[in-house]
Amino acid sequence: MVMPNTNLDDSQSPLLDQNGIQPTEQSLQIPTLTGPTKINMSFIFSLVASSGVFLFAGTVWYIVFDAEYEFFIWHPTLMALVLLSITQGVLVLQTAVRKEEREKGLLWHKIIQTVVFLSVIGGFTIIYTHKSSTNKEHFTSPHGKFGVFTFVYLLFQTVGGSILANFPGLVGGAAKARGLYKYHRISGYVLVSLVYLTALGGTQTDWA
Ligand code: HEM
Repeated sequence: MVMPNTNLDDSQSPLLDQNGIQPTEQSLQIPTLTGPTKINMSFIFSLVASSGVFLFAGTVWYIVFDAEYEFFIWHPTLMALVLLSITQGVLVLQTAVRKEEREKGLLWHKIIQTVVFLSVIGGFTIIYTHKSSTNKEHFTSPHGKFGVFTFVYLLFQTVGGSILANFPGLVGGAAKARGLYKYHRISGYVLVSLVYLTALGGTQTDWA
């Protein structure tokens, strides 16, 4: 049985304990970004999470492209990409167990979170400039207020993560940076929850 990994001090370990569920020669191998895996609880959890975010993002994209075109639609379009990608960027690390899988997972994490970083800046810039050009007040709705907080949080999280992974010298060396991974990880879970809540709030807000 797959048990949640509660050892937060082990910043390298995946969220789900995967002992005894490594792919074997005989089992069905499913290709993933970090290497082949087999059908196990970890894979199923990741499939469920992916399906949820694909459903949400797909619905948002369907609605906005079915609506009459206006510049505003690029805000939900990009923000749905943020929600989808940020989830995938976390999942690539959760399913990685062996050293080479973790290395690949980290590389994909960096690539995907770069897409998230650029998309969230794009999504924010679009709604901000759109509202300014139509002389609307900024950050008035609960979604707008929550959104600006989540946006700034995401920027800090990405810059912080990038320092730990790419410029560890800035925090006193690679060993110190590795020790800080767990804080980045916990903060990342908070951020993903905020992104979900903000996106959910966006579906309850009038179009700008
Ligand atoms: C895909 C889901 C999303 C939808 C459907 C959506 C929709 C909307 C809508 C309709 C508005 C205009 C109304 C208002 O100003 O409150 C808006 C504004 C805003 N959204 Fe979103 N949003 C989504 C995701 C996000 C996310 C994930 C963030 C932050 C990371 C965000 C940040 C903002 C901000 C800051 C504003 C207000 C901008 C201003 O007042 O100048 N949104 N959004």
